[in-house]
Amino acid sequence: MPNIAFINGKWGPVSSAKISIEDRGFQFGDGVYEVIRSHGNTLLDLKEHLERLHISAKALEIEVPYPMEMLEKIVRLGCKKCHFKDILIYIQLTRGAAPRDHAFPKKNRSTLVMTFRPHKPLPEVMRNEGVGVISTEDIRWAKCHVKSLNLLPNVMARESAKRMGAFESLFVREGKVMEGAGSNVFAVFGEKVMTPPEGPYILSGIMRDTVLKVGREKGLEMCEADLSLDDLYTADELFLTGTTVEVLPVVRLNDKPVGTGKPGRVSLLLYEAFHQFIQD
Ligand code: PDD
Repeated sequence: MPNIAFINGKWGPVSSAKISIEDRGFQFGDGVYEVIRSHGNTLLDLKEHLERLHISAKALEIEVPYPMEMLEKIVRLGCKKCHFKDILIYIQLTRGAAPRDHAFPKKNRSTLVMTFRPHKPLPEVMRNEGVGVISTEDIRWAKCHVKSLNLLPNVMARESAKRMGAFESLFVREGKVMEGAGSNVFAVFGEKVMTPPEGPYILSGIMRDTVLKVGREKGLEMCEADLSLDDLYTADELFLTGTTVEVLPVVRLNDKPVGTGKPGRVSLLLYEAFHQFIQD
């Protein structure tokens, strides 16, 4: 079964799907996106992802070409068509194709693309042994809560991490840790679990929200508060959250061990609580 794509109402294999070179997503990164997972038959937080897509589109004044219920139907149909067990769904919405000009075109049809591929889980060794992260200056714009296609700072930051033998870069702005290049970050101090508060400099992760919820259900003290890099160095545990990483323990920060240098009890508990949450 090939990976399948949906482009403005048409279905076909990803390998033969085509978009105009004048699409503003290609020309300017003028668009928004979502990454969604299906775990077996469970489409995780589909409504929340589609709501965030609407919020991002509204912030950039991009028209969403289908109502919410229709988008939901298209996603569910794609999952049925592709027959994969665990699916990675990518949705991209752009301001559409138009002759290149920075200002918005007068009348334009948005481009909506979805792809459905098998989800490749992270290597077991990363889950069992944890990953390293580095810190990097946050050079992004002041609307990081919008899930925009403009990901160059994130791309550069992730590449720097890779070159340093780490998995993720954490953005630091004016002394405060914001989030990872493609994930949110949490720090554990005893039974207290902290993550930076929502605002224009972080993406309000769907997984971040789920972890805050399941953590509270487990009786942990889950707080949203500013964290400095020094706070992170003194944490007992660190972990990343995101649709693709789920709850991923961090055991090194800029080559210094975090806590015991091994994945911690609370990270593991939250990872298991998340999987229980999917089953329930
Ligand atoms: N990224 N912060 C940033 C900057 C992200 O790009 C992501 C997700 C997250 C976590 O959000 P969520 O829990 O809703 O997945 C936080 C996706 C997975 C990506 O760009 O591939």
